Amino acid sequence: MPARGTLILPGDKSISHRAVMLAALSKKQSIISNLSDGKDVKSTISCLIECGIKIKYSSKDLLVIGGKFNHPKTDLDCGNSGTTMRLLIGLLAGRGISANFTGDKSLSKRPMKRIINPLKKMGLNILSNELFPPISISSSKLNGIDYIMPISSAQVKSSILLAALGSSDNTTITENDITRNHTEIMLQNIGVNILKKDKSITVSSCNKFLPQKISIPADPSTAAFFIGTAVLIPESKLRITNLLLNDTRIGFLRALEKMGCTFNYYNLHEDSGEKVGDVEVEYHRLLGINIDKTDIPSIIDELPMLALIATQAEGITRVSGAEELRVKESDRIRAICKNLKEIGANVIEKSDGFIIKGNTKLKSGKIDTFNDHRIAMTFHIASIVSGKDIVLNNKECVNISFPNFYKTLENILR
Ligand code: S3P
Repeated sequence: MPARGTLILPGDKSISHRAVMLAALSKKQSIISNLSDGKDVKSTISCLIECGIKIKYSSKDLLVIGGKFNHPKTDLDCGNSGTTMRLLIGLLAGRGISANFTGDKSLSKRPMKRIINPLKKMGLNILSNELFPPISISSSKLNGIDYIMPISSAQVKSSILLAALGSSDNTTITENDITRNHTEIMLQNIGVNILKKDKSITVSSCNKFLPQKISIPADPSTAAFFIGTAVLIPESKLRITNLLLNDTRIGFLRALEKMGCTFNYYNLHEDSGEKVGDVEVEYHRLLGINIDKTDIPSIIDELPMLALIATQAEGITRVSGAEELRVKESDRIRAICKNLKEIGANVIEKSDGFIIKGNTKLKSGKIDTFNDHRIAMTFHIASIVSGKDIVLNNKECVNISFPNFYKTLENILR
């Protein structure tokens, strides 16, 4: 059955986390609409409430009044969310808060050295379980740093930027590959002094923050699953409205264009400093491509879906420089390769990516989602596209980013 119709998707997860955290800085009320309804953003909200921030829903909007943070009396449970843990540690460090941060089984295995090192250089007292969660921080006087990012990570960059708001002098961060820039855009919107020069960002400390009135555009990482479905099923034609089109986030659209797909764009505009528009996509026959290190940050969360698409494209797709995929909610290189092999795809696992020979007829099989939302979504789509009996365990893990995933997909298949 083709995928047809128009989709209005929930707000971008990365922007949602940041919108709530930065709203917590302002004494005045912020109004956030179209917030991500996934569990990850709910973890951020409940941690901030533990710190004394006033947050409530008013019909579909989230209202936030902040300005004053308390030391939380209980551990801050970040659930499955690396973004919650890494960004909140920076934010609370900058507010002089002492807190303990915990997470679920997956988050407890995710590396924290990447934030511990720079935050220690800033003077933060931070303890960990041998560089993994749980983490505890205690109120410390922070200094600014000049930091060259050893890995490409928007979470690390954002953690440092948020801590720098409460430090005694300027902080400069230099990236090798540009990562998503929502924190910088939003900090500017709330009145923080940010200077950008080539690949460096300098931020000054700040103690007065403007409230926000923000409507969050649709999440391109969620949209990728629906766009991919339309591209793979003949006679499909799908429009996604109000989609986030920030250059640092559209690597998946660029990759599909390179594979031979075309998109129609409508209503292009800027909203709160972010590029937004409607995107229309149809079924296309595709060719294999190479994706390497510099492409990775803008497509990192969409690589599982791209891998599935590559199994149906003509020729070979090579993904390299993507070793960061091994430390996401699951080891996604392992999860992609093991599960694609299970359903008959031609795939070679590499330490930093994979090679896929396309044009394969997928077959029935049992999928291990590794409790990872993006793996579950990818292989549910594999079952739809192939029409085969592809069975997933822990299907409900999609709740992390998009609880309505299965229903929304069902509604466009007609
Ligand atoms: C995110 C950054 C990326 C991404 C994650 C969300 C963010 O992680 O994979 O899903 O909101 O900053 P890294 O910073 O670890 O690359």
